[in-house]
Amino acid sequence: MLRTHTCGELRIEDVNKPVTLTGWVQRTRDKGSLLWIDLRDRYGITQLFLEEGKTDASVLQTARTTGREYVLKVQGTVVERLSKNDKMPTGDIEVKVSSIEILNPSKVPPFTIEDNTDGGDDLRMKYRYLDLRRNPVRESLQLRHKMAQQTRIYLDSLNFIEVETPVLIKSTPEGARDFVVPSRMNPGEFYALPQSPQTFKQLLMVSGFDRYYQIVKCFRDEDLRADRQPEFTQIDCEMAFITQEDILNTFEGLVRHLFKTVKGIDLPSVPHMSYTDAMKYYGSDKPDTRFEMKFAELNDVAQGKGFQVFDSAELVVGICAQGCAEYTRKQLDELTEFVKRPQVGAKGLVYVQYKADGTFKSSVDKFYSADDLKQWAERFNAKPGDLLLVLSGEKAKTQKALNELRLKMGDQLGLRDKNKFAALWVIDFPLLEWNEETQRYHAMHHPFTSPKREDIQLLDTNPGAVRANAYDMVINGTEVGGGSIRIHDRATQQLMFTHLGFSDEEAKKQFGFLMDAFEFGAPPHGGIAFGFDRLCSLFGGADSIRDFIAFPKNNAGRDMMIDTPSAISQEQLNELSIAVQEVKK
Ligand code: AMO
Repeated sequence: MLRTHTCGELRIEDVNKPVTLTGWVQRTRDKGSLLWIDLRDRYGITQLFLEEGKTDASVLQTARTTGREYVLKVQGTVVERLSKNDKMPTGDIEVKVSSIEILNPSKVPPFTIEDNTDGGDDLRMKYRYLDLRRNPVRESLQLRHKMAQQTRIYLDSLNFIEVETPVLIKSTPEGARDFVVPSRMNPGEFYALPQSPQTFKQLLMVSGFDRYYQIVKCFRDEDLRADRQPEFTQIDCEMAFITQEDILNTFEGLVRHLFKTVKGIDLPSVPHMSYTDAMKYYGSDKPDTRFEMKFAELNDVAQGKGFQVFDSAELVVGICAQGCAEYTRKQLDELTEFVKRPQVGAKGLVYVQYKADGTFKSSVDKFYSADDLKQWAERFNAKPGDLLLVLSGEKAKTQKALNELRLKMGDQLGLRDKNKFAALWVIDFPLLEWNEETQRYHAMHHPFTSPKREDIQLLDTNPGAVRANAYDMVINGTEVGGGSIRIHDRATQQLMFTHLGFSDEEAKKQFGFLMDAFEFGAPPHGGIAFGFDRLCSLFGGADSIRDFIAFPKNNAGRDMMIDTPSAISQEQLNELSIAVQEVKK
């Protein structure tokens, strides 16, 4: 090694030791006769000290030519600092320098390499290798490493084995769009990158592997958001000879193991909630259960009193914001504006202030007596001092809008603490969901999910009501994982494809290999996949998954550093038998 110690390890006990350190110049302070350099590496910062008259003149001169991010090798002796810095682990000491070697100079970095940088997103992405020198980003990747290690330790202890599945696979129409790769050797034909290893892990169950996992890259060509990347990582798992309860217990165990070993938190056992209840009480299939503020439906007590808006609504539903009765006109107007935003989509907001003295003031006083409003308040278990916020309209839209309002109130009231964790299993998802665009049912999870046995008979008469053996794990309102018990016989799988609008021929062409496999002794099986990047960002208390990925793409799906996607040469195109039309940028 070029060094004897890292920049993070010297302490008061090391005083008088001769040391050699290597690292990057974080900053230099030149006070004329005295010069300090903060030398940084992955492990921390150590202060270097040079003094006119005492340090060799040529060494001092070299030190003065260094700038930010120069790479140095420094020799010296550890001394006790006169003014100690208790904010730094190495803050009791400094290194009195006897020699400096510049291993490599550096241009001035385009943004400051500090915890809070002055660099904008695009610039940081373009120079990601510099961004990765910053503590918060480096710590995020260290957390990711630890999470992966602990995942492997836990799953290995339960006899799971990690198997790699192929990356060049076959395009399928379900789910998101595929990224495709042209095949030179098979002109006009394409591979697709996997959206998940779903069918392969099922085939491994047919092979008798019994317990499989893989920390694996997946690819989806979908619109990007803070919690979505075109290539992302799953902890992908599958088990044979299990019930749904076994899966939920095993993977609740994984999440609790991660919380314990990575964050030192004892996560309480994870409650189960049906999809129907999640929608009814939270208006979302991924409710943030760090706080209560459950929905209460008011149709029976709010309709029939002459208020046309409510009378004509499919659903009248509200939440109770505790202690908010004294919200000002301006605050209430802001909430009304919020729910009317197109992304939220409500037409208006009704409020009821349950004053501290027990009286009511509402935006619909014209239609409702104090007794009426008291009845509403009882629905919410509201107390004097609380504020009721009520929306109405078509059921699904109103639930969605109230979910947004609930989350906003949660933020506003400080109820969504990033250091608090509430996990939840959402179970009994619908098997199918209606797609307006294609005017047909799509699999809500994927076509391999098994319907609940008792609901199969509804497939013909009321497909939307059929429930699936499918579950999601939700933490703090984020879907961190999802899975299901699978179909494992050809006839049911075939029936499922028929209901999804596949002709027998299409089903055979796309998934014949899986249905064939089901005829060779497929065991009952099921599994789950966690979004690993999402899990990491949640553990790290961040909103975006980007900083938990070493080299992420931006919102337009571009890697700004290597500048891709990019055009390829005509020669390559010819080789791949691809004709590209001129695209206007
Ligand atoms: P699903 O599609 O629900 O299930 O994906 C599993 C988990 O992966 C995460 N995730 C993403 N994370 C970042 N960027 C994305 N674009 C992205 N898309 C999904 C989510 C999600 O919960 N094969 C099934 C699993 C199974 O049935 O076993 C599957 O892929 O956290």
